[in-house]
Amino acid sequence: MSDAAEQDFLIKPIAGALGAEIWGIDLSQVDLPQANRIREAFNRYHVLVFREQTLSPSQQKKFAEQFGPLETHPYITGLEEAPEVVPIIKERDEKINFGGGWHSDMSFLSRPPLGSLLYALEVPEYGGDTLFSNQHAAYLALSDTMKSILGDLKGLHSAASQYGRGGDSEKRNYGSMKLEVSDQAHQLVEHPVVRTHPESKLRSLYVNRPFTESIKGMKMPESDALLNFLYRHCEQERFTCRVKWEVGTLTMWDNRIVQHYALNDYQGQRRHMNRVTVEGDAPR
Ligand code: OGA
Ligand code: MN
Repeated sequence: MSDAAEQDFLIKPIAGALGAEIWGIDLSQVDLPQANRIREAFNRYHVLVFREQTLSPSQQKKFAEQFGPLETHPYITGLEEAPEVVPIIKERDEKINFGGGWHSDMSFLSRPPLGSLLYALEVPEYGGDTLFSNQHAAYLALSDTMKSILGDLKGLHSAASQYGRGGDSEKRNYGSMKLEVSDQAHQLVEHPVVRTHPESKLRSLYVNRPFTESIKGMKMPESDALLNFLYRHCEQERFTCRVKWEVGTLTMWDNRIVQHYALNDYQGQRRHMNRVTVEGDAPR
């Protein structure tokens, strides 16, 4: 490698299953060769953590755009000056957090986001870490018999449990987050239970608790039994890594191959992140 900037770029894995910190890069001025190296690391580690960054909403957007066009969330209102940037906030007096359970972002879309980039503006003194789970590792750990059963199955996903009538957004008060409740959230979208990553070709489990309603063609008790097995399976500690946030940390994760979980162990403290999501393609 001839470029000095490329040599400065240091990759430090944070767990055996997935995740790496990237040191020696300023995300406010990433050039194309660096973006390509980041993409390579992304495909290998699935979760990348950049420390000590200073990013305005437009700089965060500009970095994210290196990976594709940005998504606008159908049910959450973004910043006025940058609608693609969604503030993820838990106020001191709020009890419930956003993303507080294992999930893959927006799997209810027919083309769910490729990845999400979350940037920390204010973090609690302790707590508020995010967990990630490698859904390729979870797939590999299944028996060949289970793999072949799952290979033919489709999951039916929707946003109803979060953004539909009677869903979480209607019941909960997210304070400063502007969440919409919509009939459109009940629309069902079909995705393979096992998807193949379009770049790395790795296979991964693609079902998640809030958005996968059932397995197509199964009776509800059958579907519930299989999905509950898969959820418990793919959330095992051996497939996970854990990111502790500091102000200025940006973490990007690959929604096509990981699930994540925002811990809610910092009651009474404020946490404020800005999120952007990059458009993805239809899972296959
Ligand atoms: C999200 C999310 C995790 C966190 O923004 O999609 O799940 O730790 N957030 O805030
Ligand atoms: Mn999320």
